[in-house]
Amino acid sequence: MALASIDGIQFLLRWVHFLSGITWIGILYYFNFIQGSWFKETEAEHKKAAVQKLVPRALWWFRWGAMFTFLSGLLMILLEGHKAGGLILAFEGNSWGAFILTGATLGTLMWANVWFIIWPAQKVVIAVAQGATNPDAAALGAKAGLASRTNTLFSIPMLYFMGCCTPLAGRRRIEPGRARRARRRHRCALDQRDRWKDRTDDVGQRSDHQRPRLDGRVVRDDRSPRMSRTKLGGIEVVGSLLLLLVGCDGSSAPKTESAELYARGRAVYVMNCTACHNTDPAKPGPVGPAILGSSLELVRARLSEATYPEGYTPKRVTKQMPPLPHLAKHSEALYAFLNP
Ligand code: HEC
Repeated sequence: MALASIDGIQFLLRWVHFLSGITWIGILYYFNFIQGSWFKETEAEHKKAAVQKLVPRALWWFRWGAMFTFLSGLLMILLEGHKAGGLILAFEGNSWGAFILTGATLGTLMWANVWFIIWPAQKVVIAVAQGATNPDAAALGAKAGLASRTNTLFSIPMLYFMGCCTPLAGRRRIEPGRARRARRRHRCALDQRDRWKDRTDDVGQRSDHQRPRLDGRVVRDDRSPRMSRTKLGGIEVVGSLLLLLVGCDGSSAPKTESAELYARGRAVYVMNCTACHNTDPAKPGPVGPAILGSSLELVRARLSEATYPEGYTPKRVTKQMPPLPHLAKHSEALYAFLNP
């Protein structure tokens, strides 16, 4: 993975997101679980010294942690949309998108709480501890405390959606009205792992179990997907750090237009077609046939009306594939992906 690519930038952003997120939420938990109860039982002068000298430091890391977490998350969402050829396309209609956007909404509320309620109120509380007078200080302190407890509560579902959505949610499109079996397959990816295996075994293909990753690449997993994922993650981390140290990213050549078209086609394919076609389009999928090398006319005809170009002999006589007209605008990208 080249660092000077969208994938590389996303990788670094995710790192920043984790680091700043842990800084932020760690201090949030410190405030709520440790400092608050200590304040209640300690002498007034100790408390005052802490508010003067300790709290401002903790609040600095706290609010900037929140800001970096928010900004890196926002950038990741925008890049995700850029990769998929549109924000809606990246997040709409797949459970991964629903999970991550729920987490992001909670996170954004928490960030706004920090910057627009907690921090302004705490500024007054600190100023009073440092000698200023302000009759509102006690009320503001209570307001900040409430916002802080709210954030602590929000952090639990927020982290759940942020941290669990990749393993829990498949990222393939769920078409309304699609067979119940397909929907169930998407809903819970804890079983998805096993089901994946069954499915591939059923069809008797793909002895090497392959799964689409979030970014559209295909991961080979043998017996334990988790193991190989970790291994892959480790290699990526070490590789990227080395690249950082050496200061070269291995692909300084600008991306050509066709490479971008191919990448978009791959993203659209992984999100919309792999419920039926194989993640490797050269191989037959669980439902649909191998479609590597399909012509542009064929792709267009399939997407717009699920028909075939005149005179074309279909690989299957069935009529299982629904038309996907909302994807017709991606025909060229899909064609580029299917004809590398
Ligand atoms: C619901 C399952 C399903 C989905 C989703 C699906 N397909 Fe299909 N596709 C099929 C099936 C099954 C066939 C075989 C003909 C039939 O039964 O309709 C097929 C046939 C095709 C063919 C023609 C193969 C040939 O040469 O005869 C192409 C091309 C194709 N699909 C492309 C796509 C693309 C591109 C996507 C994603 C945008 C996609 N399909 C999504 C099930 C699906």
